Amino acid sequence: MTATPIQFQVDLTEPPTVLIPSSQAILDPFLGTRAIVARGVEMVFQSGNQKYHALKNINLEVYRGDIQLLMGPSGSGKTTLLSILGGILTPTLGSVCLAGQDLTKMSRSQLAKFRLKNIGFIFQEFNLFPALTAVET
Ligand SMILES: Nc1ncnc2c1ncn2[C@@H]1O[C@H](COP(=O)(O)OP(=O)(O)OP(=O)(O)O)[C@@H](O)[C@H]1O
Ligand SMILES: [Mg+2]
Repeated sequence: MTATPIQFQVDLTEPPTVLIPSSQAILDPFLGTRAIVARGVEMVFQSGNQKYHALKNINLEVYRGDIQLLMGPSGSGKTTLLSILGGILTPTLGSVCLAGQDLTKMSRSQLAKFRLKNIGFIFQEFNLFPALTAVET
């Protein structure tokens, strides 16, 4: 696959304007604060002698209450980036902070606990447990 790796700079100095009913803003005092901050994220996959640079210098900020879309051709690194932002993969370089905690400094078991409490994923692949219903999974 020769798709261009994701390489973009989203470095907002001001939170974007998000239209949220004022009642919700009152319920969530952290609305508009940074939920995800990624800095200088790189991902290199290695199989044998072959290295593949899937992500290069990703810098992004996502504010609480935001809905974001990530688009790009197949093989451009979307799943890799989401897996890193969700604490499933650890990047080769860079930092990823969620709710003020740096995922790249956590052990595997700390990451597993953090995911259990904080992350929801709907996978592209079929990752349901056969013994559980979809809701239980
Ligand atoms: N575990 C891995 N080992 C080696 N290379 C990998 C691995 N995971 C992903 N890659 C490579 O990294 C690149 C990005 O893959 P990724 O799955 O993130 O792309 P994608 O944008 O999600 O594609 P799609 O739209 O097809 O889901 C691809 O070239 C892929 O082959
Ligand atoms: Mg994908």
